[in-house]
Amino acid sequence: MTNLFVRVLVIAGALLVGLSVSAVAVFVSIDCGSSESFVDENNIRWVGDDTYIKTGESLTVENPDSVSMREYRTLRVFTGKKNCYSIDVPKGERVLIRAKFHYGNYDGRSSPPIFDLQFDGNKWDTVEIEADERVYYERMYVTKLDQVSICVAMTKPGQLPFISAIEVRSLDFGMYGYLDPNDSYYSDWTNYGDSTHIRFPDDPFDRYWEGVGESLLPISVGSETRILDTGLLEKPPQSVLRTAAAPRKSSQIVLLNYTYSTELYINTYFTELPQLNSSQKRSFTVYMNNESISNPIIPPYQSALKIPFNISFNSSNTVLSLVPTRDSTLPPIINAMEIFKKDAELNDGTYYTDVKALALLQSACYKLQEWSGDPCLPESYNWDWVECSDDKTPRIVALYLGNLGLQGSLPDFSALDALQVIDLSNNNLSGEIPDFFRKFSHLKQFASGNPGLCGLEIPCSSPQGNNVTDSVQEMKSGEMLIIILGIIIPIFFVYD
Ligand SMILES: *[C@@H]1O[C@H](CO)[C@@H](O)[C@H](O)[C@H]1NC(C)=O
Ligand SMILES: *[C@@H]1O[C@H](CO)[C@@H](O)[C@H](O)[C@H]1NC(C)=O
Ligand SMILES: *[C@@H]1O[C@H](CO)[C@@H](O)[C@H](O)[C@H]1NC(C)=O
Ligand SMILES: *[C@@H]1O[C@H](CO)[C@@H](O)[C@H](O)[C@H]1NC(C)=O
Ligand SMILES: *[C@@H]1O[C@H](CO)[C@@H](O)[C@H](O)[C@H]1NC(C)=O
Ligand SMILES: *[C@@H]1O[C@H](CO)[C@@H](O)[C@H](O)[C@H]1NC(C)=O
Ligand SMILES: *[C@@H]1O[C@H](CO)[C@@H](O)[C@H](O)[C@H]1NC(C)=O
Ligand SMILES: *[C@@H]1O[C@H](CO)[C@@H](O)[C@H](O)[C@H]1NC(C)=O
Repeated sequence: MTNLFVRVLVIAGALLVGLSVSAVAVFVSIDCGSSESFVDENNIRWVGDDTYIKTGESLTVENPDSVSMREYRTLRVFTGKKNCYSIDVPKGERVLIRAKFHYGNYDGRSSPPIFDLQFDGNKWDTVEIEADERVYYERMYVTKLDQVSICVAMTKPGQLPFISAIEVRSLDFGMYGYLDPNDSYYSDWTNYGDSTHIRFPDDPFDRYWEGVGESLLPISVGSETRILDTGLLEKPPQSVLRTAAAPRKSSQIVLLNYTYSTELYINTYFTELPQLNSSQKRSFTVYMNNESISNPIIPPYQSALKIPFNISFNSSNTVLSLVPTRDSTLPPIINAMEIFKKDAELNDGTYYTDVKALALLQSACYKLQEWSGDPCLPESYNWDWVECSDDKTPRIVALYLGNLGLQGSLPDFSALDALQVIDLSNNNLSGEIPDFFRKFSHLKQFASGNPGLCGLEIPCSSPQGNNVTDSVQEMKSGEMLIIILGIIIPIFFVYD
């Protein structure tokens, strides 16, 4: 009995560890071009990309052993127009997505390609990198669908898009709820007073907190001092708050200095690290150029204070700084800062019912599964075999499925009710053309060259065999016409 008890405890313990790792709803790390799983030095579990994609070629950089982060050693290279990874994520989830690239002269040509990066039908960025660079692109946004799609797209002939790794993390409900859910954001996380970068496992959401050291004086606490639960929805990690920076020379800290126009949403975090005695006082205000824009800030001991700013920098030189108040005996400090900058507004994607109907069609026809991501967006990056309307929320208006070697019977994709043209010709489709085709009033259909397909051009036999005459006799006159037409038309096509 005791043995069993111990074993149960151990299993429960293992489960707990598993749970704490996946406490974040979505935490997916894909090593593109690899089929192996591994756990990296940050205790992040990576998986190969075979289950996420059906196209492209898996390759390795020229000198994999010289690349310290394993996810950059392999890559997947594509010859197609748009190549997407789809990752399941609950709808309405705020996610942080990262796409990582390292060319590493995988093709021996010392010429990294230029191509586009897209997510959920939105243009993300143009990937233009040096041969030996390792680069990641990051965006934060709220999902509009139950999937995140990350795509690389060819923009110039011969410049083959590739990707090295993908990271998708979901953030907690309520985190950054003040940011517009219809926009995507560039984000920037700064950890002051420490030149190391902090991410998972210190930050369960795996934000990349870049260490900033040199120009400022680092201040950190001994390991015994704990910062109590801050109660902050943004959940800045302990290890980020446990270091701070103070000015080295002047009495003020310059946080930002922009000479161009930009609008930023900024969160600043303050914690007093050593406990101050009665004769010490640290107090400062935030200045924008020569104007104070905050109340006096007194960093709390063993807790953290968040001060947000929503700032519009204009084209003249704009400097944001921390300046001590008159009664302060100590210089200002800062522990952490988050900056968010709006990117373009997110599109709503292709009409959702159409997308679902296409998915049905894809699940029936293996050949069509090479395409994923949004079927119509971004504009001009539609799937090759669909045509879309120009609406803000595009509809599928044509399906060009001729000569694709499709087999089997057709599923019910009648939800595509904006369809005007469907071409199924010269495949090996079989079974009956589904009834719902009659629902499309103005549908132009092409289905010749499918010997096994009946209902449109070839009459469908009764289950007992081809007993057309009898069937006609049993039918009402309206339906008879269809059958008779059904007999005549195939003769036209077959002997054409
Ligand atoms: C976001 O966009 C949707 C549809 O485009 C709209 O219904 C909603 O009101 C928008 N939300 C905000 C906060 O602007
Ligand atoms: C801000 O940047 C400009 C241009 O780089 C520089 O001349 C100026 O000294 C900076 N101001 C501060 C306060 O750092
Ligand atoms: C407060 O701390 C400072 C710095 O450690 C020290 O110089 C000063 O004497 C202390 N004052 C009192 C009243 O303890
Ligand atoms: C800010 O103050 C400094 C001196 O304190 C002055 O030289 C500078 O012109 C002021 N800048 C603005 C934008 O008012
Ligand atoms: C930031 O300011 C802009 C106007 O400058 C406003 O439209 C927006 O709602 C503000 N955002 C937040 C989060 O306060
Ligand atoms: C830029 O911002 C400064 C400080 O907020 C302000 O004095 C100035 O008038 C602004 N300039 C423009 C062109 O908006
Ligand atoms: C067409 O499909 C049938 C099964 O539905 C199969 O037996 C036949 O070999 C296929 N023909 C071609 C040319 O693929
Ligand atoms: C066609 O139907 C007739 C009458 O129902 C039946 O006698 C005959 O066997 C059927 N032929 C075939 C090929 O099933």
